Amino acid sequence: MTISSKSQAYIDRLKPAFIGLDTTYPLADGRTTRRIYLDSTASTLMFRPAHDAVEAYYRHYANTHSLLHFSAKISTELYHWAHERILHFLHADPQDYACFFTGSGATAGMNRMARVFRDFRPDRDTVLVSLMEHHSNDLPHRKHAGQVIHTPLDNHDGQPGCIRMDALEQTLRENRDRINYVAVTGVSNVTGIINPIYRVAELAHRFGALVLVDGAQMVAHLPVFISNPDHPEQNLDAFVFSGHKTYVPGSPGVVICRKDILRAIEPEEVGGGMVERVFVDRYLITDKFPDREEAGTPNIPGAIGLATALDILDRVGMDVLYEEESDLISYALEQMKTIPTVMVYGETNMNICPRAASISFNIYGLDHGFTAAVLNDYHNIAVRNECFCAHPYVEEMIKDDIPAELHKKENILSLRAKLKSGMVRASFGLYNTREDVDSLVNALRDISDHRETYQALYTVDEDGNYRHTSFHPVLGQLFSIHKLVDSVFE
Ligand code: ALA
Repeated sequence: MTISSKSQAYIDRLKPAFIGLDTTYPLADGRTTRRIYLDSTASTLMFRPAHDAVEAYYRHYANTHSLLHFSAKISTELYHWAHERILHFLHADPQDYACFFTGSGATAGMNRMARVFRDFRPDRDTVLVSLMEHHSNDLPHRKHAGQVIHTPLDNHDGQPGCIRMDALEQTLRENRDRINYVAVTGVSNVTGIINPIYRVAELAHRFGALVLVDGAQMVAHLPVFISNPDHPEQNLDAFVFSGHKTYVPGSPGVVICRKDILRAIEPEEVGGGMVERVFVDRYLITDKFPDREEAGTPNIPGAIGLATALDILDRVGMDVLYEEESDLISYALEQMKTIPTVMVYGETNMNICPRAASISFNIYGLDHGFTAAVLNDYHNIAVRNECFCAHPYVEEMIKDDIPAELHKKENILSLRAKLKSGMVRASFGLYNTREDVDSLVNALRDISDHRETYQALYTVDEDGNYRHTSFHPVLGQLFSIHKLVDSVFE
């Protein structure tokens, strides 16, 4: 797909429109430079137009449970619009699907959906979960929904790809009357590998299972089609994502679910706003969505900010933004592969395994914590390290990095406890550029080439964290909320 000049002009306008792209920090070598933010998979930066829209809205803020004053009406209308806008953005038919907000990330929504699906089909006690899931799309099913079977991934010369469809089919076939639903991520938060979620839905439905998609790493990066009028067998039954990973930190987690499923059971949470009448001995739950699923006062500004961000992204087109990001990720992979000491995890051929957002790697012979510390202290590059709340997946990929004689599980565990095994993850958002990738690649080359020099400058504490021997910036001097509080009284 070629990006039209109009779309490119929109992208060029949006790329710098994020808060924190000009943040500077002092470094261990005495320089002060601009932070390069490569940690969007953990949380994205704030989209300035969404922030500004919410700031303007605060002049009209009121609780949506109030009714007749102007601000209550404005708030209620905008909050209603936020739900509709999100459904539209995700191509979910509003006749069939409800959108509701819960928690501050995807985790609350996942726990909620595990309980909803359990109560919707109590006769089915098994859930299929892929081996590449974030803990938030694994543990809620273990805790609430019954027995979890982990289904394997494609193997590409020892590196994992996406969910293995033939294995999934076999497990569905063998357990067809017991499986309630398949819970799968749209995009891995570790490798960025994209799963064929619509094919998973079609397969699951063929065997009578529902499908729950973890969209936490999808919504900011690629188009989502919850309803497919031409292929309804590919519709997703429920979809969960986080506003803080979608350019609006402070916005809530979001659940999109089939209304007929929600209607069939009593809402998981009860309280104000979700009832028609309450008597001392009983209560009548409203039929209206989203009210039914949103007990209590919601995060109104966060929801409006999130819908505003999605409205703007939609005007550019998620297909265009996906194309733009794919180009950046391909470039990053290509450049990283030029450093012989860098090991990138997961299938790296994007023609075989498309990716979005994340690339996880290690420099051979260096602990991930050391690499991440030097990237921060000497290069002002913000990355995340360790296991990214996806232990089974990361463990599968790093086990070959551990000496063969220690492969026995208990030994791996004790070795891990010593080394805190894991990876470094560089992750990207709309604001990142090829220059950011070049900075990362130059930094990795520098760390690899000068490993002994850097190693002499660090010690490891008892928790396995790397500490510079002489560079100890005082965080309160980098940013102080107390100074801001003091300034109120000056
Ligand atoms: N779930 C977030 C991550 O993957 C925090 O980094």
